[in-house]
Amino acid sequence: MDITFLLNGERVSLTGISPTTTLLDWLRESRGLTGTKEGCNEGDCGACSVMITDAAGSRALNGCILFLPQVNGKHVTTVEGLAAPDGSLHPVQDAMITHHGSQCGFCTPGFVITMAAAHLNGAKDHDVQLAGNLCRCTGYAPIIRAAEAAAEAPPPDHLRHLALLRTGNTSGEQPQPAGAAPPSHAQPQSADALADWYEANPDATLIAGATDVGLWVTKGLRDLGPVAFLNQCADLRGITETEDHWHIGAMTSLSDLERALAPHFPSLGQMLRRYGSMQVRNAATIGGNIANGSPIGDSPPALIALNATLHLRHGKSRRSLPLEDFFLDYGRQDRGKGEFVEAITIPRQPDNLRCYKISKRFDQDISALCACLSIRRDGGSITEARLAYGGMAGIPKRAAQAEAAMTGQPFTEATIRRAMQAMAQDFQPLSDMRASAAYRLRTAQNLLLRYLHDANGSVTNVQEVTA
Ligand SMILES: Cc1cc2nc3c(=O)[nH]c(=O)nc-3n(C[C@H](O)[C@H](O)[C@H](O)COP(=O)(O)OP(=O)(O)OC[C@H]3O[C@@H](n4cnc5c(N)ncnc54)[C@H](O)[C@@H]3O)c2cc1C
Ligand code: FES
Ligand code: FES
Repeated sequence: MDITFLLNGERVSLTGISPTTTLLDWLRESRGLTGTKEGCNEGDCGACSVMITDAAGSRALNGCILFLPQVNGKHVTTVEGLAAPDGSLHPVQDAMITHHGSQCGFCTPGFVITMAAAHLNGAKDHDVQLAGNLCRCTGYAPIIRAAEAAAEAPPPDHLRHLALLRTGNTSGEQPQPAGAAPPSHAQPQSADALADWYEANPDATLIAGATDVGLWVTKGLRDLGPVAFLNQCADLRGITETEDHWHIGAMTSLSDLERALAPHFPSLGQMLRRYGSMQVRNAATIGGNIANGSPIGDSPPALIALNATLHLRHGKSRRSLPLEDFFLDYGRQDRGKGEFVEAITIPRQPDNLRCYKISKRFDQDISALCACLSIRRDGGSITEARLAYGGMAGIPKRAAQAEAAMTGQPFTEATIRRAMQAMAQDFQPLSDMRASAAYRLRTAQNLLLRYLHDANGSVTNVQEVTA
């Protein structure tokens, strides 16, 4: 495969690359840019953070699970590109020194890249921005102090062009077709082109954000065979709002989803803010989070509670189904060979949604279970309950018995407690390293009670210890 991108301002053209070479490996092994570190090699530590810029803006991503074709036509900034050509440091680098934000220094390149991306975007929610960067020795307080200290400094002149790329005001690289790809490796430029290619190559692996697929390569050492990268299908990305629904393209990132839906469903926004880390949310797509069929994916329960419809495409034919019907059994979804997720739609509705993600850590953790509950009421009476859970079965699943026990009943603690009892017939969860079956069931039941208290105004903050 042939690709072209800018690396710290310099044009790079690569021919005949293996499509599953990670950016991290290429930077370190082929380019000698060893400032970008390898820690976990699975998206968890942020040591490999790079800044990627395109017409959508600048964002931090994990280079260890980013394949080279995903940066085709984009600008890559590594830690070596942060200081000015005359050697003067970026404000975040300066602040890290002044505030003693580094000890052994292994995590520091990743931190300064993430801080520089946040700085360029004017983001000041430093805890959120840096939740995907782990430091073993310094402690986070000096690092956060450094981020705060650098926040008011203007972006350095030599990086200003990155801010301009967003408005298309420079001659920066734009998305472009990958050249000379063998027929088994594709980077289609539209949903139509993808549909044709996938119909002809139905056994191929689709690669969206690669936050799952990347690990198949870096940890599973799998040879993926034919692959198609979806990142240049611009018509699969983005959210359109109409009078009666939101239409969300499959390639919409979790970050963009959070920005668009949080104002309408604040509880969903709070849960998405805890989805992986900033780097993971910037890469992961809604299509990938649905298509992977994981029983512990965070977005499917929320979308099911919101009564979302899934839109699938095979060649020129399209079909739509309620999202909950897509998940058939553990590891089995209603998706044929050569068929892909094109979009989802969510009907507009009043906000009755509460999302509760239960995990061992607050940030950067996979759910032990996740409850997304939407209960419509008319007067004091429940007219519709959609109680969708992740981590309680082999698929994301609604609690049908509990819903039946509530519908038409008064919205009171007595009703909720009856529904909690009924829920025992809905789920037979498993015990695993994240939680025991008994814990899962008890918690799933109790979260329904928490919904009642939330709706009645006694809101709980799970971050009981705050800075
Ligand atoms: C560090 C880390 C933290 C994470 N934290 C969370 C978390 O908190 N919550 C959570 O839910 N998940 C989490 N994940 C898992 C991962 O981010 C999600 O599953 C993600 O949504 C996958 O999307 P992607 O675009 O990266 O998919 P990819 O990895 O590109 O693809 C995933 C699967 O979906 C298929 N696919 C992708 N797009 C399509 C499409 N349009 N049509 C058909 N098939 C398609 C691919 O072929 C593949 O089988 C985490 C992952 C990492 C590495
Ligand atoms: S090396 Fe840990 S996130 Fe990439
Ligand atoms: S300074 Fe050592 S890991 Fe952060």
